[in-house]
Parts: sequence; C-alpha cells; structure tokens
Amino acid sequence: MAEAFEILVTGGAGFIGSHLVIALAESGYRPVVFDDFSNSSPSVIGRLERILERQVAVETGDVRDPAALRRVFARHQFGAVAHLAGRKAVAESVSDPLLYYGVNFGGTVSLCEVMAEFGVRRLLFSSSATVYGAASVMPITEDAPLRPANPYGRSKLMVEQLLADLASAARAGPRPWRIAALRYFNPVGAHESGLIGEEPAGEPDNLVPYLAQVAIGRRPALKVFGNRYVTRDGTGVRDYIHVADLVEGHVAALRQLLAGTAGEYRAWNLGSGLGASVLEVVAAFERATGCQIPLQVVAERPGDVAECWADPRRAERELGWRARRSLDDMMTDVWRWQQRQRDEERRCDE
Ligand code: WQD
Repeated sequence: MAEAFEILVTGGAGFIGSHLVIALAESGYRPVVFDDFSNSSPSVIGRLERILERQVAVETGDVRDPAALRRVFARHQFGAVAHLAGRKAVAESVSDPLLYYGVNFGGTVSLCEVMAEFGVRRLLFSSSATVYGAASVMPITEDAPLRPANPYGRSKLMVEQLLADLASAARAGPRPWRIAALRYFNPVGAHESGLIGEEPAGEPDNLVPYLAQVAIGRRPALKVFGNRYVTRDGTGVRDYIHVADLVEGHVAALRQLLAGTAGEYRAWNLGSGLGASVLEVVAAFERATGCQIPLQVVAERPGDVAECWADPRRAERELGWRARRSLDDMMTDVWRWQQRQRDEERRCDE
C-alpha cells in the first residue's frame, strides 16, 4: 500500500525534485525533501504545500555529509530514496570537475553507505542522456555506447557504474538492492498550477528558460547556437520531455522497485522519443504564447551535438510508461510559470 512508504527525495526543492514531490504525494506516497538549498529556493516548499494542501516534510543538509544523512534516516522509515541532488551544468563541470565528482559521485557514495546502514535498498537515480556523449545512431537506446564527453556526463556514468556494482555485490545477500537509473533527456515545462517550475540562477544555459526570459523582455533576443547542423533546418535537435511526464516515469519505476519485480539494477531512457529543433521549439513557444521571439544566429556552442533523442520503448515495455504531453503543452506551461514569476517580481518591486 503506497501510503505506508516514506520516500526520501534528495534535491527535492529543485526543478525536477519539486515536481517529483507532487507526483509522489498524488500517488499515495509520503515524500520527504532533503536539500541544502544551494541551487533552489526554500520558498518552493510553501508552494508545494499550497498545491498539495498538506504539509511537506523537509530535512536540510548536504548529501555529502553522512552525519546529516544519518540524522535524517534515524527520524524516518524510508521505503526508498529518489536521488536527484547533484550538479548539472556542463560548462561548470568543465571549469570545476572536483565539485562535480565530489557532489555527484561522492554524494552518492555517502548516501548509499547510510542507506545500507539503515537497511534501505531501493533507489531511483537521476541520470542523464549525457552519459551517451555524441551518439552516432538515433534514436538512442539504453544499449548505445556510453561515451560521456564532459566531467558532468562522466560523473553520472561513474555513479551508474557504482550502483551496478553495488547491486551485483548484494545479489547473493539477504536483501538485494533494487536500483533504477533514469536517463533524462531534455526536461522542460512546469506544473500546470504555474506555482513551480525551472528557476535558473543568473543567465540560463538552457534553451527553454532562456526563451521564456526573452518573451518577458528580460533578454533582448534568443541566441541560436548555429544553424548549419545536418538537421531538418540546420539547428540543433533534442528530445524535450515535459517535467510532469518525467516524474510520472519515476513513479512507474518506483512501483517496480517497491514491488520487488524490478531487477537489481537497470537503466531506462526517459524521453519523448521525438526530436525537435531549436526553430521548432521557438515556433511552438510562439504558437502557445502569441509572443514573437527575436532571434540572433551565432556560432555553434562548444561541446554541442547536432542531434540527440531517445528510443523510449524499454520504459514503455517494462514500466508501462510513456511521455504524453506535447511540445505545445510544455511551452504553454512554461509560459504560465514565467508570467507568474514576472508578476511576483513586479509585486516585490512595488
Ligand atoms: C538545447 C538546444 C543548443 C541555449 C543540457 C545538458 C543536459 C541536460 C539538459 C542535465 C541545443 C540550443 C541552447 C541557447 C540555443 N541537463 N540552444 N540557444 O545542451 O541539449 O542539454 O541540458 O541533465 O545534460 O547538456 O540543452 O537547452 O542547453 O540546448 O540555440 O541559448 O538549444 O545548441 O541545440 P542540452 P540546452
């Protein structure tokens, strides 16, 4: 029975984590947020409680701190952990690799040690399509070569290898680990209430939050990083997935872990299976919002690949899950969220 289970959500105040808290609660679980708020705002918690109309348990701490983790595990009875706390900016990982290996890999080691101490061996891990690097065959299946091209992607792959080793070592033990590595493609969108969404600090790296800031007039134009790729219209193609679909994929995987029907370790692509170019995303945004987005074509961004999109059939087959929301749905929800943020900023300025 879902209600019996508390689920620890590390990074639960972040963009994906906050949406996962909603999805877990609405599926009958009891999520507990664990966050150090280094890349998220405490105000998210009040908005989560507004959406859920109930209190949300919050524990503050750093996933690299075993003592903080032990205090939290001693206070709760977790059925599983959803591990989303981590650093995720490619460019930052190149300039500060130690931070990325320390938080993403070291943090997972600390977490798994404490999980083992408390006998909690069901784990959802937030992985990323960057473990594939510049994949040559589209769409990308889970069996594609794993050749990450930056410290961020390498830190995620190292965690996957750690978790696979942990699961196989425990296979013969009294209670095996059951671990799901969920490889995110490009999560975008926001909760339909407009109360939570992506809040990048400073200038957004990613396309959709930047696009939304152009639409509200915070940025003069969208820089299009190259239009001479060998793609439909020359601009980069990615697999955008609504954050609501993404977290529904987590709940589907969690059900399998808790039911014991999942294997010890398995990776699933969480993508829509559809590729969309930069210009197609802009067109969808303009359709959804009625805004005209000024564009400025500039040089390709170092490290970018021409195209990257998922083959999501393993998750569909094995988890009974597939992404349902369209690109227009994503843009409509992003716009509602962005407008709400702008209105709140205006209220603050008054
Ligand atoms: C998408 C497309 C750009 C910004 C990154 C991380 C990945 C994951 C998702 C964590 C590309 C183009 C972008 C802009 C543009 N994060 N673009 N102008 O690079 O596919 O993936 O975010 O897991 O790990 O690598 O996403 O949104 O940055 O770029 O033209 O201002 O939009 O060239 O084609 P990306 P993105």
